[in-house]
Amino acid sequence: MSEPFIRKAQMRDVKVIHHLLLTCSTQGILLPRSLTQLYNSLREFNVLDPGDGGDIIGCSALSIVWDGLAEIRSLIVDESVRRGGYGRMLVEACLDEARTLGIYKIFTLTYQDAFFQKQGFVEVSKEVLPQKIWADCVNCPKFPECDEIAMLIEIQPDDSGES
Ligand SMILES: CC(C)(COP(=O)(O)OP(=O)(O)OC[C@H]1O[C@@H](n2cnc3c(N)ncnc32)[C@H](O)[C@@H]1OP(=O)(O)O)[C@@H](O)C(=O)NCCC(=O)NCCS
Repeated sequence: MSEPFIRKAQMRDVKVIHHLLLTCSTQGILLPRSLTQLYNSLREFNVLDPGDGGDIIGCSALSIVWDGLAEIRSLIVDESVRRGGYGRMLVEACLDEARTLGIYKIFTLTYQDAFFQKQGFVEVSKEVLPQKIWADCVNCPKFPECDEIAMLIEIQPDDSGES
């Protein structure tokens, strides 16, 4: 039987990512992203491939914000396969990528604080992320009344000698 696996996003995934984000945004959980934004940032995305040739069933993106600082965005696992460990895999894919890039501080803005806590993130004040505010938040419809929780993880360089 085929098993879902994580891979980098490809052009054929964009419309499915768009749909996943739209579904969550109508529930107020995530911000929608336009197709233009998704094409521009396609290289940031990891996707959860079902392994059976069907459409992807999850995604995550690592977006570089500043020197040594990146954000996990657009994390979604399709409802049909939640609580199967795939959310964790999508977060780990972002953290591995950050490590490869030499980025050791990764944050997210989320309502899923309990999930991120389990991945080692800790809640921080949004004031410790000023670059995020300059770059993105000012353009968000929720600004400045953002009720998302800022969570940060500091990871260690890979000391295996491989990158
Ligand atoms: C958040 C989300 C990505 C989690 O995906 P998932 O595949 O269900 O998560 P996993 O199965 O990998 O869970 C990993 C661990 O977190 C726990 N967990 C998962 N969702 C949780 C939640 N909402 N609250 C508390 N714990 C949660 C799991 O029980 C598991 O715990 P364990 O390590 O003790 O077994 C998924 O619920 C989702 O897509 N939500 C809608 C979109 C969203 O809110 N994204 C986050 C925006 S930043």
